[in-house]
Amino acid sequence: MADLSNIRNFVIIAHIDHGKSTLADRLLEITSTIEKRKMQEQVLDNMELERERGITIKLQPVRMKYSLDGVEYCLNLIDTPGHVDFSYEVSRSLAAVEGAILLVDATQGIQAQTLANLYLAEKQGLVIIPVLNKIDLPAARPEEIAEEISSLLLVEKENILKISGKTGEGVAELLKHVVRLVPPPKPRLPANEKHARALIFDSSFDTYKGVMAYIRVVDGDIKAGDRMFLGASKTNFDVLELGYFSPQLKKDDVIGEGQIGYIATGLKSVGDVRVGDTILARGFNDALDGYKEPRPVVFASFYPEDGEEFELLRDALGKLKLTDASLVYEPESSPALGRGFRLGFLGMLHIEIISERLRREFKLNLIVTTPSVEYRIKKTNGEFENVRSAALLPDAGSIAEIEEPMVAIELLSPARFVGDIMQLMADYRSIYKQTDYLTKDVVIMKYIVPLGEIITDFYDRLKSTTSGYASMSYEPHNYMSSDLVRLDILVAGDQVEPFSRIVPRDRAFQIGKKTVEKLKDILPKQWFVVTLQASVGGKIVAREDIKALRKDVTNFGKNGGDVTRKKKLLEKQKQGKAKMKELGKVDIPHEVFLQMLKK
Ligand code: GTP
Repeated sequence: MADLSNIRNFVIIAHIDHGKSTLADRLLEITSTIEKRKMQEQVLDNMELERERGITIKLQPVRMKYSLDGVEYCLNLIDTPGHVDFSYEVSRSLAAVEGAILLVDATQGIQAQTLANLYLAEKQGLVIIPVLNKIDLPAARPEEIAEEISSLLLVEKENILKISGKTGEGVAELLKHVVRLVPPPKPRLPANEKHARALIFDSSFDTYKGVMAYIRVVDGDIKAGDRMFLGASKTNFDVLELGYFSPQLKKDDVIGEGQIGYIATGLKSVGDVRVGDTILARGFNDALDGYKEPRPVVFASFYPEDGEEFELLRDALGKLKLTDASLVYEPESSPALGRGFRLGFLGMLHIEIISERLRREFKLNLIVTTPSVEYRIKKTNGEFENVRSAALLPDAGSIAEIEEPMVAIELLSPARFVGDIMQLMADYRSIYKQTDYLTKDVVIMKYIVPLGEIITDFYDRLKSTTSGYASMSYEPHNYMSSDLVRLDILVAGDQVEPFSRIVPRDRAFQIGKKTVEKLKDILPKQWFVVTLQASVGGKIVAREDIKALRKDVTNFGKNGGDVTRKKKLLEKQKQGKAKMKELGKVDIPHEVFLQMLKK
């Protein structure tokens, strides 16, 4: 068994594009984990979508051998998802290691998300190694940014390493720091009570071997064939296979105490093998602290554009659920959109990732309704009800109070934008907390804001207000009572459910007016005048009319098509016209829903 004193487990905390993958590549090279000629740029990156979206590219974990002063060390590098939506997953990755490289781009400086992750790392008691990257660039401002880091971490400026992941300068020195500063793992159980305990920090799915748990062994050893038990999901399994990351999965006989590796569980549902759960030797029940159920905070309905694709959507969600235990969904139907699903997400980025994956990997065209948070409704009869969709909000008359989830938000920005940010925040029902100066030019502003506000266009506006410089991070706060109402949209007198929203009473008029104006622009004309109305509790707060259709719509551009086609169209229109008139009903095309939901 490997000596614990020769193991070092660490992560790299960095903002997107600050050079995490490039640095990881250099580490693989220096430790000859991958031969240079086999090295492709950024070996550890793998998710195409995340790369494009410029978000949380996850690195494959990797074990490296490294000799220093005649001693051979085993270094395990694992990754943390970089985005706030996944802060619980981040906290579990951090709990699996003893040290963190804080990598900051010397041309950019610290960003809010890096800070949020840094706080989490400090909470876990990790040793932090601050590093300035990209010092080869002419635009690098190492002195200035070292100042920022130094006042943030209370370290001497001289102790901040300056490297270039690109040229390799300073990287060998950094590895030495990792070995010298990061402490070796420490088992938690006393020797006479030793049994295997391992923390799950990530997972993947293999069609043959089932869920692959990525683990940090905290106590004891785990061997192939061992009989194990999952503390939180209370599930038994036998170890089908285990090994380490090279970075490909490399089969082995044992994962020793303090080590990082993978276990093939044979279990078919990721719901049974959750991040944060403990794998225990069967017969024991002393799970590690810190397990939390993934809790969705934002909800949206997904409907296939083509109603025929409902079953395909169901299959696709089932497949995504295999690798993403935090995704929750239930079937739902709407008179306007047919059959679909109500999904729960960890945040807005999560919604975007899932809808993009459904579109790209499963070729599904979807209508996604306006995202909603979960409201707590206190009714006049004393009962409580949780509501995740405006359409399900009870009658105003039966509501005593509506509470909404709040978040504590931190905005990191150059100090010159303080005034603009304050103005912006006033638009989002925020409660100001405080402003701290990180340096004389960089501030952190803290607010409490309704989650429902920041899932709208908040981030885009923050970016445009500050020319792209400000960044943000947030975490759940409490629930707070707010004066909210349901805003309904009526087309030709019929309520269109997917357009309903829960909004602040004093903005209902403004939002209603904007909505019907936008709808007026995009809804195709009909053979009769169509009224568009915004209503709150049965009272109309805004109205627009769409004029009736008169022109010859068969004249599509210059090449209007052949005569028979025109005739057919005219015939069809006549029928449609008659039918519509008779019903006075408006058929809302799917594209209109899509455009209305787009910001
Ligand atoms: P994501 O994986 O996208 O989150 O970013 P990352 O933090 O892994 O950054 P990545 O390694 O992909 O680097 C981002 C960009 O910066 C790439 O174009 C790199 O080539 C470049 N880069 C990384 N390190 C250095 C460096 O030390 N010097 C210079 N000049 N460029 C660098």
